[in-house]
Amino acid sequence: MGMKILVTGGAGFIGSALIRYIIKNTEDSVINVDKLTYAGNLKNLESISSSKRYNFEKIDICNQKMLAEAFFKFKPDAVMHLAAESHVDRSITGPDNFISTNIVGTYNLLEVSRMYYKDIKNLAKKNQFKFHHISTDEVYGDLSISDPPFDENSPYKPSSPYSASKASSDHLVRSWYRTFGLPIIVSNCSNNYGPFHYPEKLIPQTILNAVMGKDIPIYGDGSQIRDWLFVDDHAEALFILVKKGVVGDTYNIGANNEIKNIDVVKTICKKLDNIYPISINPNLKNKKLKINSYEKLIKFVKDRPGHDLRYALDSSKLKKEFHWKPKRSFDEQIDKTIKWYLDNLEWAASNSDNHL
Ligand SMILES: NC(=O)c1ccc[n+]([C@@H]2O[C@H](COP(=O)([O-])OP(=O)(O)OC[C@H]3O[C@@H](n4cnc5c(N)ncnc54)[C@H](O)[C@@H]3O)[C@@H](O)[C@H]2O)c1
Repeated sequence: MGMKILVTGGAGFIGSALIRYIIKNTEDSVINVDKLTYAGNLKNLESISSSKRYNFEKIDICNQKMLAEAFFKFKPDAVMHLAAESHVDRSITGPDNFISTNIVGTYNLLEVSRMYYKDIKNLAKKNQFKFHHISTDEVYGDLSISDPPFDENSPYKPSSPYSASKASSDHLVRSWYRTFGLPIIVSNCSNNYGPFHYPEKLIPQTILNAVMGKDIPIYGDGSQIRDWLFVDDHAEALFILVKKGVVGDTYNIGANNEIKNIDVVKTICKKLDNIYPISINPNLKNKKLKINSYEKLIKFVKDRPGHDLRYALDSSKLKKEFHWKPKRSFDEQIDKTIKWYLDNLEWAASNSDNHL
């Protein structure tokens, strides 16, 4: 019999990729605990939702009572905590939800997990239990162009309300291990991309704005560097870690694929010029836009306050201990991601507030 894994935030971008991976590739079962905020969508899970090994509970992780009921009903062997407010821009315009979900929500989940863990009578089940906290490379702050990548011992120096709230949650999780003996692991990952990514994020926004003939905004001069990892590679790494990660440890998950934002956007535009030429795009014809490449839609806008220059992660620990490395290339997967959005414009439209 497989493990029972309680996943929070499973209706979001990475959580849904993780659940699809678990249901399609393993014998494990999943309970998805999600509040279904603007970023959560059960359509992301349509391909697996009829599985008997998949369950859903609509719960806000800020509601400790409902969380406790779900734990004692489902009796999970592991928790994978992805529920969060995840968009840096929103954390600048309205930090409240970031404090409540990312910090207070994580605290609630830790407390419920601690009570539940204390109560597990079966020793084998108790020894197997793990609380896996999923976090970001943004907690480390940013790097200059010449700095070596962050490793697991890099100091925390978050810049935005989002990264500060994730840093706070990382600290809480580690303290529940040190103080209460809750068996935890933490993973910090670089920027993900792929299908089902909410349209406000750089890659889907670029694809969708281009297709609609809208300006493609780029903060500052677009020289910021991110390390892009395909979401299914992240899901596989997370699954390895929840099974094999050493209790108390932290693991960085990166792709060794640093690209400037402007180059990500130009790559997408060039690929779109081939996959969906402007000459056959009715949206541009209707707007009477006389341009010969989607690149002409790029518009440099005022930089984001506190914008980090560069993220890069050293994930040699994960590679050395578990032989994990990303299986997919950026060039191939960005093609597939563009095609996925072109085939799923309806999904994108139903997942946007003013982005389409
Ligand atoms: N997207 C990235 O590139 C990236 C990189 C590294 C780490 N992460 C981390 O991975 C996790 C998932 O990121 P994502 O991009 O999938 O985010 P997302 O915004 O796409 O999804 C977040 C999910 O959490 C749910 N949620 C939000 N508040 C909740 C609450 N109070 N109670 C219950 N559910 C709630 C939402 O409904 C949604 O389904 C986050 O913790 C994020 O910090 C993301």
